[in-house]
Amino acid sequence: MRVVSGIQPTGDLHLGNLLGAILRWVRMQDEAECLFFLADLHALTVDVDPAILRGNVREMAAALIASGIDPAKSTLFAQSAVPAHPELAWILQGTARMGWLNRMTQWKDKAGKNREGASVGLFTYPVLQAADVLVYKATHVPVGEDQKQHIELARDIAVKFNNDFDVELFVAPEPYIGGGTAARVMSLRDGASKMSKSDPSEASRIHLTDSDDVIAQKLRKAKTDPEPLPDDPELLAGRPEARNLVGIMAAVTGESPAAVLQRFSGQGFGAFKPALADATIALLAPLRERLIELRNDPAMLDGILAAGAEKAVELAAPTLHEAYRAVGL
Ligand code: ADP
Ligand code: NA
Repeated sequence: MRVVSGIQPTGDLHLGNLLGAILRWVRMQDEAECLFFLADLHALTVDVDPAILRGNVREMAAALIASGIDPAKSTLFAQSAVPAHPELAWILQGTARMGWLNRMTQWKDKAGKNREGASVGLFTYPVLQAADVLVYKATHVPVGEDQKQHIELARDIAVKFNNDFDVELFVAPEPYIGGGTAARVMSLRDGASKMSKSDPSEASRIHLTDSDDVIAQKLRKAKTDPEPLPDDPELLAGRPEARNLVGIMAAVTGESPAAVLQRFSGQGFGAFKPALADATIALLAPLRERLIELRNDPAMLDGILAAGAEKAVELAAPTLHEAYRAVGL
């Protein structure tokens, strides 16, 4: 079982990224052979600021390692350091069909009404995504709801290529549901929209680099209702803010929401919020310390990424070679 997954190197990660994506990767490391990459080539499909992109690759690597991605267990690298990804993507652009890409809902969402003005890369990036996993013959790809269509596309490309060139080269990857459940964290301001870096309000999210005081303050100011907490998660249904905070408590402590409510039923947010701040700080403070140490040692980070890239280059080489052979090059 080989798992491959990438994350775009966006700066300033928040609690939603950690609980919804990164900690799931951390748990996967003990279940499968894992390759994790910083999708810096995918970042080129929208407008980029070169100075920021360069810094973000290191920052994201530091955040992943600080969160528990262990370079001794997993292969961690920058996508751009393994030319086999874009090389194979180009070969696969001969296999993928316009109609397949036209159907991608992310393309429709992200290009919006301005299709003529969207970059070509924004349209074809699912083919690069297919290459990212097919080049390692990944058996499984962890994906969120929004990416399921792209795995289907990778499978279609793998099958068509194998058929067209009469080879058994590519493995059609399956979605991976391991790594435990990932929490969906909502904004601290309304409990209804997703916690996101695109939210203009800093108070809506907790950053991995926030100090203990800032974490406590943001949670203290988080929107809530005046009712005490119930004893059953079902009773949180019409209370999005309360449900979100209980969900965050469950995710940071590793409890079920029911277990959280057992501890707090009948109590109000005056008691719950300080406990939530303590639990969140207990998770984030050591992570923040490691992140700061890693940031201060760019040479070590670069060394880890270089070693990961070297391993990835080696793993990818035979597949790329066979793909060239299959098409007659
Ligand atoms: P953002 O919404 O802040 O721009 P990204 O889209 O860059 O975050 O997401 C990076 C990863 O973090 C993805 O795997 C995404 O599913 C996950 N993620 C982002 N926000 C949340 C959230 N609020 N709750 C759970 N997971 C999230
Ligand atoms: Na986003």
